[in-house]
Amino acid sequence: MPRKLLRCDNLQALGELPSRSVTLAYLDPPFNSGRPYEAIVASSWEPGSEAFRDQWSWSDEAEATAPLLPQLVDAPVAALVTNLLETLGRTDLVAYLVMMAPRVAEIRRVLTDDGSVYVHCDPAASHYLKIVLDHTFGVENFRNEIIWRRTHAHSSSRRYGPVHDVILFYSKGPKYVWNKTYASYSAAYIEKHFRTEDDKGRYQLITCTAPGDRTGTRAHYEWHGQLPPPGRHWAWKRERMEAFEHEGRLVHSSNGVPRLKRYVDDGPGVAHQDIWTDINRLDAHSHERVGYETQKPLLLLERIIASSSRPGDTVLDPFCGTGTALVAAERLNRGWIGMDASLLACSIALARVRPETNLKRVELRGFPDDVATAIRLKRDDPVAFGMWGTSMLATLADRQAFTSTLAAGSGSLRIARRQFEVMSWVPLRARVDRALPRSPKRYGRLAKVGFVLRSSRSEDGLRGWVEEQLGIPLQEVEVDELVTAEARTSGVARSVHAT
Ligand SMILES: C[S@@+](CC[C@H](N)C(=O)[O-])C[C@H]1O[C@@H](n2cnc3c(N)ncnc32)[C@H](O)[C@@H]1O
Repeated sequence: MPRKLLRCDNLQALGELPSRSVTLAYLDPPFNSGRPYEAIVASSWEPGSEAFRDQWSWSDEAEATAPLLPQLVDAPVAALVTNLLETLGRTDLVAYLVMMAPRVAEIRRVLTDDGSVYVHCDPAASHYLKIVLDHTFGVENFRNEIIWRRTHAHSSSRRYGPVHDVILFYSKGPKYVWNKTYASYSAAYIEKHFRTEDDKGRYQLITCTAPGDRTGTRAHYEWHGQLPPPGRHWAWKRERMEAFEHEGRLVHSSNGVPRLKRYVDDGPGVAHQDIWTDINRLDAHSHERVGYETQKPLLLLERIIASSSRPGDTVLDPFCGTGTALVAAERLNRGWIGMDASLLACSIALARVRPETNLKRVELRGFPDDVATAIRLKRDDPVAFGMWGTSMLATLADRQAFTSTLAAGSGSLRIARRQFEVMSWVPLRARVDRALPRSPKRYGRLAKVGFVLRSSRSEDGLRGWVEEQLGIPLQEVEVDELVTAEARTSGVARSVHAT
């Protein structure tokens, strides 16, 4: 089973994947990929703040890609997107479609014949994306538009609160992997449908017959002197009915018709439908939260992966962000390939995958692997450096030496003309047992997986506070120490390639 984390543009990396090598792809593209830190969350997130605007814009990349569409995608898709460009102009929406069309075409190529794709999108653009998907996968392979209620209430002036995302589900062909998944009964459902109770619990009475006359078979016999009604047969053979009777699970009406007591726990629950209201967004106190605004809940990915792949299959997430799909795939015993253009995102993904598997099994690409690259990164992009440093330190084989310490990386970041000190940290052992205190607003969020992002305090102030709150010293990351230590690490270092 592959386990790969590739820091690169996904179009290029998709091109390198063999055809028919992936059973399930989940795509969660951003609305503004050009913004390197659009995803960083703040403790005091200000709605409408520039730094977190979630939009596409017509860019040089879109300008360069649009004329190449006929070479990148099938003729009908190229014609569709080109027509939209002519009709709607160089808009943010068309930029989104120009960028997605070639990636979707590559996804179709790499899917196995029984594979599927789920595309997570915003209702503002999902209907346009759906036409691109219809043209790429065929309308007949459209399976569901899943409505995910990601939040409960959203105050919006002069319109209804926008609380849902759309997830479009297509299979590559008519035969595709599908495992039915179930939700447990809600309290209201149990109240309504399981009205009676005995010493074994609440139950409902169900018929013991099924449609179809099977006269002459073992499903058609006399039960307490009664034959099944015309056109029906007994749902179970005689031995099974006798077992039910022995267990006290049959109730006979005054005219002798048997009915079976079905208890709440007998069935798997209610099959999931295409409106998902039972998976909540990650709130401020969630253990999963790592400080990435667009991070999706594990439960969401677990449901998708469990439904549309089998153990041992490969799951692909070409916009993997913090690696939610990778963690879910690992937990469900699937192989995985994650891609993200951002070193920051890949570093967080790596740190999240670390407690789930032996990192020596993970192939990494696009992480700095020599001192010069690391120093350049530290100078040009201190935040990405801090993230990379901490996540790499956490992967080192000799990390035992740091037990009970935190590897920390820090830097300054300008967002919307304001300067912030940011800090990342990774506990150098499987988990920090100590419960983290509720973070005072002014210090920024302390995410339990190990990243602290954005504070208007000075770096020293932030460090001191983190150390004091956690009661654990922070270990400063030195560039050459990091790279040398990494080189010493057998498995991981071997699979790290230069950018
Ligand atoms: C909405 S986020 C994904 C969040 C993810 N599902 C999670 O749970 O954390 C989208 C990600 O796509 C990445 N991205 C944008 N354009 C990309 C490209 N051309 N190639 C690879 N990754 C890209 C961004 O860096 C960002 O991390």
